[in-house]
Amino acid sequence: MSVAHGFRRIGVLGAGQMGLGIAFVSALRAKVPVLLHDRSATQIDKGLSLMDKLLAKDVSKGKISQADATEARERVIVIGPEVGLKGLRDVDMVVEAVSESFAIKQSIFSTLPQEIGPNAILASNTSSISITKIAAATVPQGLSAASEEGMRTAARVVGLHFFNPVPVMKLVELIPGLQTAPNTLESARAFALACGKTVTESKDVPGFVSNALLMPFINEAVMHLEKGIATRDDIDTTLKLGMAHPMGPLQLGKFGIGLDTCLAIQRTLYEGTGDSKYRPSVLLERMVDAGWYGKKNGKGFYEYE
Ligand code: CAA
Repeated sequence: MSVAHGFRRIGVLGAGQMGLGIAFVSALRAKVPVLLHDRSATQIDKGLSLMDKLLAKDVSKGKISQADATEARERVIVIGPEVGLKGLRDVDMVVEAVSESFAIKQSIFSTLPQEIGPNAILASNTSSISITKIAAATVPQGLSAASEEGMRTAARVVGLHFFNPVPVMKLVELIPGLQTAPNTLESARAFALACGKTVTESKDVPGFVSNALLMPFINEAVMHLEKGIATRDDIDTTLKLGMAHPMGPLQLGKFGIGLDTCLAIQRTLYEGTGDSKYRPSVLLERMVDAGWYGKKNGKGFYEYE
């Protein structure tokens, strides 16, 4: 069943695993044209070949028709690095899915409003950074953040948090910042529903509901490994078979999220709350120091092909 969402065209910023997944469900489920932008042409090529594989798999399993797959693929239009953000001029919403770094997001949200229409929604797929802080980055220099004009763009910023792998995971977490207008929130909700997702809403606290609960769990598993309480496999098997988790926490910290992202989220939680329960384990810090990020670059607690 298709759900009305009212978006003529959207932009997705970032063609990594999250951005690509968001482009995929937007084109296939919400049936909306997607302008996909990344500053790396290689990343775009990788993303598009993954999308082709996912569509072909769904066709071969009889989940969608070949015509559905072809139409979905045709809805994805690449905006290459040479065109930049100005290629997103004619969209009704941009979903930002770049790295989990406030500095990068701040730079995007301070320049994007000049490139897109005055009514377009600016959604962030951040998994832990404050939406209020991201929205504040849109206030033009020289304008008061408390003035009507200063708030105009900030009111169109919202958190739209998808989960990895996006085509499979059924949830979107919706996060209003202090500035988010009610119609921005409701439009973003309608869009997530049209993508076939169930929506939960969280206040703008570090990590929102999802990662404020998940990250201490993963971190505690890494600390158990660090202290030698159990082996990697026994920790993961305990949670998989004892609690029916589809993946153990060490496997999840590698495959599902990426250790670098895990650490970035844990730091945001720790800095944002000052609560020692969120302090990242030394072993996690060291894995990231070593440049071992999990499945995304082939090495971590597990070895990946
Ligand atoms: N992209 C797209 N589809 C994928 C996929 C991927 N990366 N990986 C697996 N799938 C699909 C498979 O193709 C398969 O689809 P079909 O039903 O059409 O065959 C389906 O998922 C099941 O795959 P498998 O049978 O191979 O494997 P599985 O039973 O182990 O399921 C899984 C894979 C769904 C990923 C499962 O292991 C799982 O649920 N893992 C936990 C994922 C999770 O917790 N993600 C949340 C991470 S947190 C996050 O994203 C947010 C954050 O802020 C950090």
